[in-house]
Parts: sequence; structure tokens; C-alpha cells
Amino acid sequence: MYQALKPLLFRMDAERAHELVTGLLRRAGGQPAVARMIRALYAYEDPSLATTLAGLRFVNPVGLAAGFDKRAELVEPMALLGFGHVEVGTVTPRPQPGNLPPRLFRLPGDEALVNRMGFNGPGMQAVARNLRELRPTNGDRRQATDGRRPTADERRPTTIIGVNIGKNKDTPLERAAEDYAAAFATLAPLADYVTVNISSPNTPGLRKLHERAALEELLGAVATENARLARPLPVLLKVSPDETDAALEEVVGAGMATGCAGFVAVNTTLSREGVRGRAAREMGGLSGRPLGARARATVAHIYRLTNGQVPIIGVGGVASAADAYAMIRSGARLVQLYTGMVYAGPGAARDIKRGLAQLLWRDGLRTTTDAVGVDVR
Ligand code: FNR
Repeated sequence: MYQALKPLLFRMDAERAHELVTGLLRRAGGQPAVARMIRALYAYEDPSLATTLAGLRFVNPVGLAAGFDKRAELVEPMALLGFGHVEVGTVTPRPQPGNLPPRLFRLPGDEALVNRMGFNGPGMQAVARNLRELRPTNGDRRQATDGRRPTADERRPTTIIGVNIGKNKDTPLERAAEDYAAAFATLAPLADYVTVNISSPNTPGLRKLHERAALEELLGAVATENARLARPLPVLLKVSPDETDAALEEVVGAGMATGCAGFVAVNTTLSREGVRGRAAREMGGLSGRPLGARARATVAHIYRLTNGQVPIIGVGGVASAADAYAMIRSGARLVQLYTGMVYAGPGAARDIKRGLAQLLWRDGLRTTTDAVGVDVR
């Protein structure tokens, strides 16, 4: 059905098509009969796909990358489509409009997108309200705590919720740590893990936070807030694919020194290597197929730097089971996608999971965890 709809959607402005599709998903998710139908169409789980990261249990390793659901409105529908985790955000402390449209462009021949959204979003208080609505039926907290038998709702598969945080555009870089600490303090109690995003190319100066001193200050401020929680959360650091090897080593060093539980690699790239589409000329970050090799190389590099001891979420150019498998074999414990779903449609997570289970079986591996980093060691 998506293949029939796609030509129509692709004739629309890319951001309007996104709003249309996500609006439909939101409405569908809210209607029990439709939700049941979607689940029946898109359900696929296999024990070989279950995995853990920093003490969290994931029913499968395929997650939705940040940027798709900036407001925490799509967690339930994306879970229905089979995503084992959803990374909400990037969320900034205060609401902000982002850059002027048009700011999202398709490169169909390259199976890629260029975006310069610029952290448009309703701010942390509005996202916190949406997360609070989800919380009673989400995650660990779905388990009945008062000794009664869990309801059917509480027994539904668990979707892990990550919240990706960033700084407001008009916060000076020297005060970035305050923005991250504020967003963390408000959102962490409602999340399963938090990703610190220093790698969007669309907030001026943000990537300067890859510099060691600034990064340690920032992550230190987040760690201080984390230590205040009754249940400290895994904090992940999302990195850019455009750093030199030496810079990446510093970033990983800073992450380790400040207690990060893992890394999310990678964000969009400023490079246009291997891209033919006209929209390549647009300013912004490139995602999708052309990013895949660079993303896997960055994952492999982090895997080596950390001796395979620190979990990595691999993101960039994952569109098929083969892509996901290659990413895992490069060192990723979990994968995420955004652009791949725009091109493949709502069945993307299901098809990736099904193919992944077959690839593991073909290679005599019992679980995805057994495949992590096998091409790098
Ligand atoms: C993104 N991405 C992103 N990442 C992030 O950390 N915070 C964000 O707000 C956004 N916003 C965003 C918007 C749009 C339109 C796109 C296409 C992407 C980056 C995304 O999470 C991912 O890292 C890259 O897109 C690479 O993965 P894919 O798209 O190749 O699967």
C-alpha cells in the first residue's frame, strides 16, 4: 500500500508529507480496532532479536532515530509498527520554531534526505506532558506494582523510550551545559535513557561541543543531574560522522571519563560524497543510503577504541536487514533508522527484523548480540 501512496506523498513538500503521515499514525494509534489491525500487520518478533543495553531490555534491536518524533506523540504508533525503541527529540528547554521552510529535501535517486530543521520543537515542558501521558502504560512501569495481575495493556510488548536533548539556538555556547542540564532534569524521570546530542549540523556552533573541555563540562553537568535521580539513567552521546579520527578519540575519551553508558553514531553529515540529487546543493545534514559506509566506519572506530566494552547504537543509512546486520557486525548493539523508513515505508522495521533473524540463522548465530562487532575484532 505504501508503494502505491509513495508517488503521491513524494509529489508533496517533504515536511508536509511528514506531517500528513505522522498525523495519520497518531490518529490510527489512538483507535483500538485500528491499532490492533496495525499490530497484526506489522508484528514480528523472534527471541534471537531480543537484546540489552546498559541494563535495559529491548524486544528487538531496531529503533526509530531522533528527529522523527520530536514531540513524543508517536511512541505508541511506532511501537505498533514494530520498533523496539523510539528516540524522542531532539528536545530543547524552550520552544523554538527552527529554520524557515523549506528545510527538508528528498534525493530519491540517492535514497537520501537533506534537512536543516534546526531543532524545531515545543520545548521540554510540552514534551514532558506528552511523556507523562504515555508513562502509565510504558516500559517497566507497565508491570503492576500492587500485586494484582497485570492487565492486557500492561502485558503489551515493552517499547523503550529514549529522549534526545539539545540546546536552544539562542543560548550562547558557553552556557550550553545549563540547557542540557535543565532538559535532562525535566525529561530524564520520564525516559528509559537519554541521548546528549552535540552533533546536529543545523544549530550554529553545536558541533564545537565535540571539543574535549566543553564536552566534559557539559557531560559533567548532566552527570550531576543524573546522580540526583532515585534511578540514574544510561546517558548516551550522539556523535557526528564528520570528525577526524583524533577528534573522535577525544570525544570517546570525554564520554568515558564522565560516565556515559554508550554512544549513538552517527548524526547527519555535511559531506555530499557519492550524492547526485539536485537537493544535494541545499544546506543541511545528509542522511540515508550515502551515509551508511561512513556511519559503519565510525561505529567500528568507537568499538575498537572502547575494546567492544561500551554499547553503541548504529544509525545512518540503515534501510534493509542487510544494512542492519552490517551495522551490528561493525559493532552496534542496536540500530536506528529514519530515512530508510521514508523510502521503504511503515513495514521497514518488520522487514528488517524478519531478515535479520534469517541472517543470524544462516550464519549460525543465536542472537544479535553474538553478531556485535564480529567484522571488527
Ligand atoms: C534527523 N536527525 C536528528 N538527530 C538528532 O539527534 N536530533 C534531531 O532532532 C534530528 N532531526 C532530524 C530530522 C530529520 C528530518 C532527519 C532526516 C534526521 C538525524 C537522525 O536521527 C539520524 O542520525 C540520521 O538521519 C541518520 O540516520 P538515517 O536517516 O540515515 O537512518
